[in-house]
Amino acid sequence: MDIREKIQNRSAKIGVVGLGYVGLPLAVLQAKTGYHVFGVDEVAAKVEMVNQANNYILDVDDAELREVVDQKLLVATTDFSVLQQCDIVLICVPTPLTRNKEPDISAIVKVVGQLAHYSHPNMLVVLESTTYPGTTEEVILPALTAKGFTAGKDLFVAFSPERVDPGNADFKTHNTFKLVGGVTEGCQEVSKLFYEQSIVKVFPLSSPRVAEMAKVFENVFRSVNIALVNELTLLCERMDINVYEVIDAAATKNFGFMAFYPGPGVGGHCIPLDPYYLAWKSKEYDVHTRFIELAGEINENMPYFVATKLQRVLNQMGKCLKGSKIVILGVTYKADIEDPRESPATKVMELLQKEGAVLQYVDPYTPSLTVGDQQYTSHPVTQELLEQSACALILTAHSAFDYQMIVDHAPVVFDTRNGTREVKQRREKIVLLST
Ligand SMILES: NC(=O)c1ccc[n+]([C@@H]2O[C@H](COP(=O)([O-])OP(=O)(O)OC[C@H]3O[C@@H](n4cnc5c(N)ncnc54)[C@H](O)[C@@H]3O)[C@@H](O)[C@H]2O)c1
Repeated sequence: MDIREKIQNRSAKIGVVGLGYVGLPLAVLQAKTGYHVFGVDEVAAKVEMVNQANNYILDVDDAELREVVDQKLLVATTDFSVLQQCDIVLICVPTPLTRNKEPDISAIVKVVGQLAHYSHPNMLVVLESTTYPGTTEEVILPALTAKGFTAGKDLFVAFSPERVDPGNADFKTHNTFKLVGGVTEGCQEVSKLFYEQSIVKVFPLSSPRVAEMAKVFENVFRSVNIALVNELTLLCERMDINVYEVIDAAATKNFGFMAFYPGPGVGGHCIPLDPYYLAWKSKEYDVHTRFIELAGEINENMPYFVATKLQRVLNQMGKCLKGSKIVILGVTYKADIEDPRESPATKVMELLQKEGAVLQYVDPYTPSLTVGDQQYTSHPVTQELLEQSACALILTAHSAFDYQMIVDHAPVVFDTRNGTREVKQRREKIVLLST
């Protein structure tokens, strides 16, 4: 049966490789759409959890996972040979950086190496991992066509970036608009048809390179704008101007302005990493992406700024950082999610730790945390904890925090996220990034 027919009558079998923040929600969505899905991951513990419908991703609904697992529509495994049975394979493995901030696409290469054994005619392979423009055609295509397949005829290859925003209550995998760039027109047609079965809007593009570039551009756009507002914050701090009031004022313009907010740095598996994928690739073309490098430099300096400002805050109270108890509020890379990857909180804690501060942290989403060689366990946020500290330092403004209670009981609150904006009483105890 032709792959198009299998897609439309739901008899196509799907393999989702990498069951993380991107792959698990996607696997559940495909199973809900009515396909039989194999979730493949190299970590046996994750596979076991999925097969027991034991959810580990906040964006996945427990009941939906339970339903597709009970119906055997989603089966997880560490065994790559199941891909032989799959008509469609979606690759969702991590794309980190090396220590020197160069792309590390080894997980993609490993998966494609395995997939090459199991590829067969009439198969669609889509890369969803974020990467530099050129990866699909330079890395995936040659490996998969080595057996003699012709792209667009008997094998279909495309890039379709995952753009999901973890923790976003309004936009999930199914209603986040999708880009698809096929290697040929045939690849384009088949991949578009596939995604249209489960995603509300699909935009076909002329090539995988355009889709790869568009995805990285989206994240560069965020990184550069966050850096711009972070730089403005440093200036506002010198000038004693409240940067949040400035942003709110600028946002009253009814066209041409988009608000971005400062913070203690950027985190997660996207913004701090993806721009460097493009910066690396651009060197092959004798182009130096100065905006990317500059934004990286400014954003990466923010944890240092926070650590230095905290010392000043304590100094004004006649205290020094060494030996002072600091209660850190929020350690995930953004509010209301459980992902601590690349969180600027870890960097801030590392800097404070080096200066001899005594750290305790509170985060309802992160029961334990390792910073350098120190292991921490999350504390409940109590009056006693706050009163015994020298300062409460808000690094991630979870909505579960009672900000008035925090301000009432901490001697001083250094709020790097403006989480205390609704606090009405004792505002004199609050220090912001720029005041
Ligand atoms: N997290 C996000 O917000 C987000 C959003 C959009 C795009 N992305 C991109 O999606 C990709 C995946 O990100 P993620 O956040 O889901 O990562 P993740 O670390 O949460 O999940 C990746 C999964 O792949 C598995 N894995 C790693 N190597 C493997 C291999 N060789 N074979 C099989 N499984 C393997 C890991 O065990 C893990 O379960 C990355 O390229 C990322 O940049 C992430």
